[in-house]
Amino acid sequence: SNDVQADLKHVLYTREEIQQRINELAEQIDADYQGRDILLVGVLKGAVMVMADLARALNSHITMDWMAVSSYGSGTQSSGVVRILKDLETDLMGKHVLIAEDIIDSGLTLSWLKANLLSRGPASVEICTLLRKPEAAKVEIDVKYVGYDIPNEFVVGYGLDFAEKYRNLDFIGTLAPHVYE
Ligand code: PRP
Ligand code: MN
Ligand code: MG
Repeated sequence: SNDVQADLKHVLYTREEIQQRINELAEQIDADYQGRDILLVGVLKGAVMVMADLARALNSHITMDWMAVSSYGSGTQSSGVVRILKDLETDLMGKHVLIAEDIIDSGLTLSWLKANLLSRGPASVEICTLLRKPEAAKVEIDVKYVGYDIPNEFVVGYGLDFAEKYRNLDFIGTLAPHVYE
């Protein structure tokens, strides 16, 4: 069938819940940065929705830039070796960088990315992720802003894909097993 709803098991977070949580994170970020300009770095493609909503919820002056990375690995397992597919256009020297992500799973993408950005001379690099899975605890990485800690389930929507689909859902849901089995 071509019906997206039929592929879903249940809704984890509604659009309203996500909106509310992002507003709370934005309030916290505005307070922490105290009027400093922020460079938001979105990690393509999953972070597009978080970037769009977080950027609009912030009162601080922000600029936006994007990176695309791909992690090498056998099959679905991330190896931690990351290749840059699209780099930033912004010089990070002296900038306050805030990475926006949809999800931290193994944590390998972000631990590599944070180290990479830190090597470019920014004033600071922090991370804001909407979702975080338990696996991420195995990696030494300081994540300042987390929307929700979630169990180890296959989630889609609000930027998150399965085989590039479901990114356009305005909520976060779990996938019915028949889709991926
Ligand atoms: C997903 C997700 C995070 C990353 C998290 O991106 O959007 O960027 O994986 O995984 P990790 O913590 O195990 O490294 P993906 O590589 O699927 O690309 P996408 O954003 O284009 O979907
Ligand atoms: Mn991603
Ligand atoms: Mg993906």
